[in-house]
Amino acid sequence: MLNLTTLLTERKLIMVGGKGGVGKTTTASALALAAANQGRRVLLVSTDPAHSLADAFDRNIGGQITRMAANLDALELDPEEEVDAYLERVMRQMRRYAGPDQVNELRRQLRLSSQSPGAQEAAILERMARLIEDSEQEYDLLVFDTAPTGHTLRLLTLPEIMAAWTDGLLKHNKRSEKLGKALAHLTPAKSVDTPFQDPTRNATEGMDKRSKELTETLLKRQRLFQRTRRTLNDADHTAFLFVLTPEKLPILETRRAIDSLNEANIPVAGAIVNRIMPKPGTDEFWAARYERQQRHLEEIAEKLAGVDTARLPLMAQDVQGLAQLEAFAQALTGSREF
Ligand SMILES: Nc1ncnc2c1ncn2[C@@H]1O[C@H](COP(=O)(O)OP(=O)(O)O)[C@@H](O)[C@H]1O
Ligand SMILES: [Mg+2]
Repeated sequence: MLNLTTLLTERKLIMVGGKGGVGKTTTASALALAAANQGRRVLLVSTDPAHSLADAFDRNIGGQITRMAANLDALELDPEEEVDAYLERVMRQMRRYAGPDQVNELRRQLRLSSQSPGAQEAAILERMARLIEDSEQEYDLLVFDTAPTGHTLRLLTLPEIMAAWTDGLLKHNKRSEKLGKALAHLTPAKSVDTPFQDPTRNATEGMDKRSKELTETLLKRQRLFQRTRRTLNDADHTAFLFVLTPEKLPILETRRAIDSLNEANIPVAGAIVNRIMPKPGTDEFWAARYERQQRHLEEIAEKLAGVDTARLPLMAQDVQGLAQLEAFAQALTGSREF
């Protein structure tokens, strides 16, 4: 049995993941609200471009930290905007070293790299890593709606890959020799296959001032990822939770996601089975649906054996607005029976 109350009081970071439509946003919002009600200072962050936190709370949020309730702030990240902001930072830094004719080429390269596969994941992961560090002073608990999968999280262990989607392209830009020279030093570990070595050792020795500055920036990012990775691996600090419904595809997808996190050495705290139907009366249609759900619940017990689970009832209506989220939060923490 998954004890969500304990998680809410003891952890500092909760990641909520699962297939689209199963109730991630609703669950993440209700968990955040429950923790805020206990007096913890909570920041709830969505990385879903569909801006669904605003729907759950029934009010606008956007890219600014917004107060939702006592002790509860929320923030919606837009992956596209994160990519743009990231590239803008790179552009600003590079511009200091590039001549006027190089700036246009630089811009072109960065635009190209913003279209490269994984760019949004990388930018979002970087923003998450910064938030995890920067929010520590002001918040006791950070809740992410939409946890990255193990596959995405593996990006964090490969800072070279994270760097590659911007710096790599620039590095090969032969036309700007000066820039190329500075950038050649950017990635201390030259290839993905190179075992990771302490990048701080001798990395900047013998470089000119500009290369040194650029390298420092990259090293700082690598260290940030190393710290984030340790935080995610730490089961006392972080809880990964999955939401699923008792249906075939969500069960399969949850199993896969848990496996891929485990492969990345990330412990999963549990799974929340949402939209559990009450036992129906004599109506044949609903009796059949109910039977089917019972089979799927058995399948969950089997397929997710060893994973702690909690159950949430199907509500008569969508869960929208503070009052309904409160009721949902009570169902989650077991303080109210349905
Ligand atoms: N247990 C439930 N009972 C009734 N409606 C629910 C329940 N859980 C979620 N919903 C509703 O289902 C819709 C999708 O939920 P949402 O949390 O946005 O899913 P996701 O974030 O996984 O896509 C929302 O309108 C939400 O209010
Ligand atoms: Mg959602």
